[in-house]
Amino acid sequence: MEHPRSSTTFGRTVLVTGATTGIGRATAVGLATMGAHVAITGRDRGRTEDAAREIRAAGGGQVDVFVADLSSQAQVRRLAGEVLGRLPRIDVLVNNVGGYWNTRHVTADGLERTFALNHLAPFLLTSLLLDRLIHSAPARVVTVASGAHAMGRIDFDDLQGERSYSGSRAYDQSKLANVLFSYELARRLLGSGVTANALHPGVVSTSFGAEDPGRVQRLLVPLLRPFMKSPARGAATSIHLASAPDVALMSGCYFAGSRPKRSSARSYDEDVAARLWAVSADLVGLTAAAHG
Ligand SMILES: NC(=O)c1ccc[n+]([C@@H]2O[C@H](COP(=O)([O-])OP(=O)(O)OC[C@H]3O[C@@H](n4cnc5c(N)ncnc54)[C@H](OP(=O)(O)O)[C@@H]3O)[C@@H](O)[C@H]2O)c1
Repeated sequence: MEHPRSSTTFGRTVLVTGATTGIGRATAVGLATMGAHVAITGRDRGRTEDAAREIRAAGGGQVDVFVADLSSQAQVRRLAGEVLGRLPRIDVLVNNVGGYWNTRHVTADGLERTFALNHLAPFLLTSLLLDRLIHSAPARVVTVASGAHAMGRIDFDDLQGERSYSGSRAYDQSKLANVLFSYELARRLLGSGVTANALHPGVVSTSFGAEDPGRVQRLLVPLLRPFMKSPARGAATSIHLASAPDVALMSGCYFAGSRPKRSSARSYDEDVAARLWAVSADLVGLTAAAHG
């Protein structure tokens, strides 16, 4: 068994998005095994209930289920309302949901899907849950970015890839946005008792990119799969950031292999982070001045 049952009880409430499979499910299993009260999200009720049963079987304890398609802002808002109604405290939010699409797709809100799901969804969900996180402090926001952020740049002139779209450019941009968001959130939350960090999970064998695979996913991934990390190993850094006492006071950091690492030079640009925050707040209908 890859997640040995821990004798220590973590005993906190953790919300993990996208925990039906892959890194998210392994993160939920790992935290449940440590004694956390785990709440998970998925977009399909059957798959999410199935995952919850597996997480309960592996880790024991309480596993709550929330269902929402996070590419839709209306569903993110409904999800946040349900979470606030059912979870009196949120000690850790793990923004894990993310995806890759080789061709350009448009969400119900008319936004490019990679930017909407990978960046705007965690931006909006975190903003809507922020007061509950602050009331639960010490609390943590953990956002699953990627080493791919280093290839990304924020193209404010074509954020939605309307003029020109490439799956990898959209993904790299969204993952840079995850890092910029985490750093800006950390600055905004200074002194609140809530930390915000981003991470690279490694190259992990999951369903990632399977919905609309590009050439790399179709040709290269099957060959590389035997050398990739298992989801349990890929979840290690998320679990570390969600639970380890030695990172309790660390905020505005990027982690890989459960250690702090420098992220790309672009990710430390505070002007870009502030501009991205303002644009994102506008796109999700929040005011940039508030925490959200
Ligand atoms: N795998 C890697 O090598 C790797 C490397 C670097 C970073 N990452 C990052 O790690 C995170 C997790 O990726 P993964 O590899 O575990 O991917 P995955 O196996 O594809 O899992 C993605 C999860 O997100 C959910 N999801 C997808 N679209 C959704 C939507 N519209 N609304 C709500 N939930 C949705 C999926 O639910 P369904 O069951 O409904 O599909 C699933 O639970 C992502 O942020 C990814 O960018 C992965």
